[in-house]
Amino acid sequence: MNSVSNDKLAIEGGSKAKNSPYGSGKRFGENELNHLREALEQNTLFYYKGKKVKEFTARFSSMYGFNHCIATSSGTASLHVALSSIGVTVGDEVIVPPLTDMGTVIGILFQNAIPVFADINPDNYKLDPVSVEKAITPRTKAIIAVHLMGGACDMDALLDIAKKHDIALIEDCAQAFGTRYKNRNVGSMGIYGCFSTNDFKHISTGDGGLIVTSDAERARIATEVSDKNYCRTGNTLGRSAKFLAPNYRMTELQGAVGLAQLERLEHICSTRHRLGMKLCSLLEGIPGVAPYKPNDGSYTTFFGFTGRIKTDEIKVGRAEFLAALSAEGVPAGPYIPEPIYNIDMFQNRSIYKGTTFPLEGTGKSYHYEKGMCPVAEEVINSMFLMPLNEFYTDNDIEETATAFRKVGKFYAR
Ligand SMILES: Cc1ncc(COP(=O)(O)O)c(C=O)c1O
Repeated sequence: MNSVSNDKLAIEGGSKAKNSPYGSGKRFGENELNHLREALEQNTLFYYKGKKVKEFTARFSSMYGFNHCIATSSGTASLHVALSSIGVTVGDEVIVPPLTDMGTVIGILFQNAIPVFADINPDNYKLDPVSVEKAITPRTKAIIAVHLMGGACDMDALLDIAKKHDIALIEDCAQAFGTRYKNRNVGSMGIYGCFSTNDFKHISTGDGGLIVTSDAERARIATEVSDKNYCRTGNTLGRSAKFLAPNYRMTELQGAVGLAQLERLEHICSTRHRLGMKLCSLLEGIPGVAPYKPNDGSYTTFFGFTGRIKTDEIKVGRAEFLAALSAEGVPAGPYIPEPIYNIDMFQNRSIYKGTTFPLEGTGKSYHYEKGMCPVAEEVINSMFLMPLNEFYTDNDIEETATAFRKVGKFYAR
């Protein structure tokens, strides 16, 4: 690593630490086109009649040792189906972290259940098991463990809590393809594991989702719940739904692209892991920078690259630090602006338009106080996120670290 501590910052007219453009490439190619053509030639784009969605889910299962896999229209849909399938309903509480995508909580609310926010670990941003246990009440029906940023949650502790209190554990693996926890694939430890294949994820079908489970009966229920609770067997169609369910079906076009994308997935995960871990180690010890710290024994596949800016070690705030970094050629910004519970519908208690239900009306009153998860708030206010993908090179990672070091040393107290 070259010494840059005395270099003039690019933001003040100096030369940039990262001069070359980051590696980039095409995510879709001939393979995707061939599968799409085959899908169209089937003369049906309906998952139940065609082969592509079936092959997509079968291959994903065999790659990661999942017993059953069901395709849906989005990651949000997958989580909603999982919650509905285990019977989460009016007034039930579901424990979630406040640092996640809205997709983690949307299904809870559509079931008229209540998201209860537990705090997170400041180093890896995942649910803090101590806070989860404190949040449990007689109404708690499930925990959603979010494997944020391609890193695994502290699953041993969360599984122990779920078992001890006899509540369901669902894994939100939207950002965690190929992630492992103590040699177990994420998605295989909870009752259901839910993935997203939206366009920002490790693999893309434009939009889409996958649900995995080890249990055949749970797979049957989730299959039906994602398809209006219709029961399809052979050429017969049972339309007599036992309870309300949405239409979250994946189409053959998405299945075709997904099947092709799977051929790239192992390369995507292993490259992101290698580059991400390299950047973590290169950033160690830089003033003002705390890189993401994976859970012990986990294998992280880096949905993006995150860390925290430690303002006690530098003379500027996060915004100035990140502006200087961007000027050096490293595009880093905050992740989400605020915890999920700060958004309007929680603060105004307007989950549905014109009513306070279900935050009122189920026998318990729910309010979401700002500051309720102080660690998460501290993390969100100090966190940075920069892209990291499989097209990046070792040189990209080294130059990125040089830029961080240059800015960190310049602003060090
Ligand atoms: C952690 C997490 N959960 C759930 C979702 C929802 O997935 P989708 O956008 O496919 O509905 C996302 C997507 O951004 C996510 O990042």
